[in-house]
Amino acid sequence: MIRHIIALIAAALTVWAILFMARLDSEVHRLQMIKEIIEKSKQEVPMAKKVQPQQQKAQKPKESEEEKKLKVLKEKAGRMSAFEVSPEYRRNCASCHGINGEGTIGPKLIGKSKDELLQALKDFKSGKRKNYVMYGLLQQMDEEKLESLADEISQFAQKLQNAQ
Ligand code: HEC
Repeated sequence: MIRHIIALIAAALTVWAILFMARLDSEVHRLQMIKEIIEKSKQEVPMAKKVQPQQQKAQKPKESEEEKKLKVLKEKAGRMSAFEVSPEYRRNCASCHGINGEGTIGPKLIGKSKDELLQALKDFKSGKRKNYVMYGLLQQMDEEKLESLADEISQFAQKLQNAQ
């Protein structure tokens, strides 16, 4: 009789231990997730904080308010495009030439004629005009694609004017 009771208690303890371990496991997992989230948010916070205190110190409170608003607007403008561009352009060219061809790493493309653009693209692709980045990028594009890109970019200036 006593042996049965002990066996029963042992079994119950085992089940409890297993459940306890399982809960611990999920707890640890959750904690890890929380830690990761905190870690991620930490990376972003310092960047946001660094800019503001400097500005507030450098200027009178009233100006810094306006400055802040301006900054937000500028940031928005930077991220948003004034007009729609093709996915083709956005994916392949915007990173260096700007979302509307305004130029960043690569030169400004807005305002160039279709002929000018197409000639540049052809010359980059053939290697006549030497640029490692543009050469590599254009190897997978056929003439038709180059032409449609040149055509699209040549209309950027007009599109920008219409958007304003
Ligand atoms: C990784 C950066 C990068 C990407 C992506 C890129 N370009 Fe360029 N592009 C450049 C650089 C740098 C130059 C300047 C090269 C030079 O003048 O030698 C340039 C030059 C040009 C020029 C000549 C401009 C001029 O003033 O003569 C044209 C046209 C052009 N790119 C179109 C495109 C198109 C279209 C795409 C997308 C298919 C594209 N680029 C993608 C970096 C890039």
